[in-house]
Amino acid sequence: MSAGAVTGAVTGAVTVRVPAKVNVQLAVGAARPDGFHDLANVFLAVSLYDEVTVTPADALTVTCSGPDADQVPLDRTNLAARAAELLAARHGLDPAVHIHIAKNIPVAGGMAGGSADGAGALLACDLLWGLESTPAELLEICAELGSDVPFSLVGGAALGTGRGEQLAPLESGIFHWVFAVADGGLSTPAVFREFDRLAAEAGTDIPVPEASPRLLAALAAGDPDALAATVVNDLQGAALSLRPQLGRTLDAGLGAGALAALVSGSGPTTAFLVRDPESAAKVAEALAASGTCRTTRVATSPAPGATRH
Ligand code: C5P
Repeated sequence: MSAGAVTGAVTGAVTVRVPAKVNVQLAVGAARPDGFHDLANVFLAVSLYDEVTVTPADALTVTCSGPDADQVPLDRTNLAARAAELLAARHGLDPAVHIHIAKNIPVAGGMAGGSADGAGALLACDLLWGLESTPAELLEICAELGSDVPFSLVGGAALGTGRGEQLAPLESGIFHWVFAVADGGLSTPAVFREFDRLAAEAGTDIPVPEASPRLLAALAAGDPDALAATVVNDLQGAALSLRPQLGRTLDAGLGAGALAALVSGSGPTTAFLVRDPESAAKVAEALAASGTCRTTRVATSPAPGATRH
């Protein structure tokens, strides 16, 4: 997060750029009494961004542009609108802003696009209104908005514990990624419910989630082969159970030379770790030609968190 020096409210518009994420380890514990699951969630921010612009207006409104704009809710369920409302309420303000989201992150895809818009709108409104909130204050509101929103604000590489909202920064070298965007989204609660159902069916104890020391060492070393050997997403079985055809996408990327293939978060976007930009182009081309996904994106990690643009 880089808010820059702020003195007083800004007139005109404020634009904040916010990254998507991929989870290289998503270890999921048993369901908690509050319905959430404890996680050991190794987040990497990737260089796919939404841009959130806030402008003073008569009332709170949201618009969205981009190829998947028609799938984005423009009412108060949009996390960007909720972020403006929460921040305004804390300061006794009227959230009278127009929020425009230039959307490039896949929608409902397991890449925290909605969370990115929440974090982006929060930082943009804080700058527009000259509130100068501390990072801790912003992170608290982010956690209220959703489990992935704090990470969207800070970006980089981090371990998320609790329900994913308690962050500790991690060291990470640069990695290259291809993402295959599926048709339609998957509901995160539905994927967690399927995880619970599959676990109950298997009848085995669910271990307490813990970060893998080997994976953290591979990240810090920037070693793609070592990272490929350790990536793991406990939600993958549930996402594949709900969307079996994702297995063909994973196979297509591996067949084209990806070092590792996994479902991104709760899916249905799939993520492919590749050695270098040349391999990324080759894997992206093969995935597009395979007919097993709607579109592909190439990105690198880590990427900076929410940043004024
Ligand atoms: O926190 P967020 O609003 O993104 O969570 C959406 C849903 O995903 C929750 O209502 C819950 O069903 C599920 N979830 C979970 N455990 C987590 C994070 C999310 O069960 N750690």
